[in-house]
Amino acid sequence: MTDDNGVLRWGVIGTGGIAHSFVEALGATPAGRITAVGSRTPERAEEFGKDWDIPECHGSYEDLAQSPNVDAVYVATPHPWHHPNTLTCLRAGKHVLVEKPMAMNALQVSQMVEAARGSDRFLMEAMWTRYLPASRLVRDLVQDGAIGEVHWVSAEFGINAPYDPDHRLFNADLGGGAQLDLGVYPLALASHYLGELTVVGATRQLSPDRMVDTHTTVLVRGENGGTGSLACSSRTTMPNRAVLAGTKGWLEIPYFWMATDVVLHRDGHEPEKFHRPFRANGYEYEAEEVARRVAAGERESPDMPWAESLRLARLTDQIRDMGGLVYTPATVKAVPLA
Ligand SMILES: NC(=O)c1ccc[n+]([C@@H]2O[C@H](COP(=O)([O-])OP(=O)(O)OC[C@H]3O[C@@H](n4cnc5c(N)ncnc54)[C@H](OP(=O)(O)O)[C@@H]3O)[C@@H](O)[C@H]2O)c1
Repeated sequence: MTDDNGVLRWGVIGTGGIAHSFVEALGATPAGRITAVGSRTPERAEEFGKDWDIPECHGSYEDLAQSPNVDAVYVATPHPWHHPNTLTCLRAGKHVLVEKPMAMNALQVSQMVEAARGSDRFLMEAMWTRYLPASRLVRDLVQDGAIGEVHWVSAEFGINAPYDPDHRLFNADLGGGAQLDLGVYPLALASHYLGELTVVGATRQLSPDRMVDTHTTVLVRGENGGTGSLACSSRTTMPNRAVLAGTKGWLEIPYFWMATDVVLHRDGHEPEKFHRPFRANGYEYEAEEVARRVAAGERESPDMPWAESLRLARLTDQIRDMGGLVYTPATVKAVPLA
């Protein structure tokens, strides 16, 4: 399923901020090209199509999913629609790259995985961080033993977004909350370097209307005894770095979810700095991974397999429950917390 030149043909669902970034990245890789966009309204589809010179503009997501000129769909809608949009595309025979978090809860993720298995199509949560050159460098350094055995992970992702109860970051009906949107990155990093995680504790601050978390701090323990402290915030700018500390030194990764720089601190040595810039905006690497796996006939990526998305969703469910939060599916109106 590619064009005559073996290039993966992409359709995009949703025309918001990240959809623009992804289509921009597709322009920087020979592995894929954009052929179609789907929006809830024909006008927005046309507008987006004009911006990026896209041949097919569909006024519904269902129409895009039926296009014979699309091999893979990038689902770029707010979190509560990841599940229904992904199922629509998989059932129409498309491969799917779906934005993070993969869904609102682990049950939805398991249904998406089953749908991919049933339709024999590729499915991946768009954890783009894992495919960045700087992230690959970190993985190589750790595997080569540069910092010894990893015993501690610290990571935070905090931005000071203006409070707007109608914005998807703060609106429960749009999948709001810091943990779902931002906290997935620290959690994925800890899961990668500490192995199977247990959530030891979680606490949070709520939005003024008490509908979503605006700040969550999580304590985790890894399968080999390593521990992690993770935090995210939609109302506070944080140092926004990750630290992996091991028996022989530590790695520092500023802005780790979109990493370009890494500092290696080997015990007893001067720090070593590495710079690994993006070729475009960073999303080209995940697009290339999808193309690679689809071309090889594979259905998941070893760096972000279905089991990992399921693990992260289960952990997120636990953090939600410890925080007393409720993540409502798209069809249910959210209610304030007691
Ligand atoms: N990987 C990353 O770095 C990154 C960065 C930002 C966001 N994200 C993820 O990408 C997803 C979308 O985020 P975004 O920032 O692009 O959001 P956004 O700017 O609000 O855009 C979301 C798009 O989804 C569509 N949509 C469908 N149902 C909607 C609804 N009920 N309300 C509003 N929009 C709806 C809209 O497109 P139409 O009206 O055209 O249908 C809208 O333009 C989120 O899950 C987020 O976590 C990832």
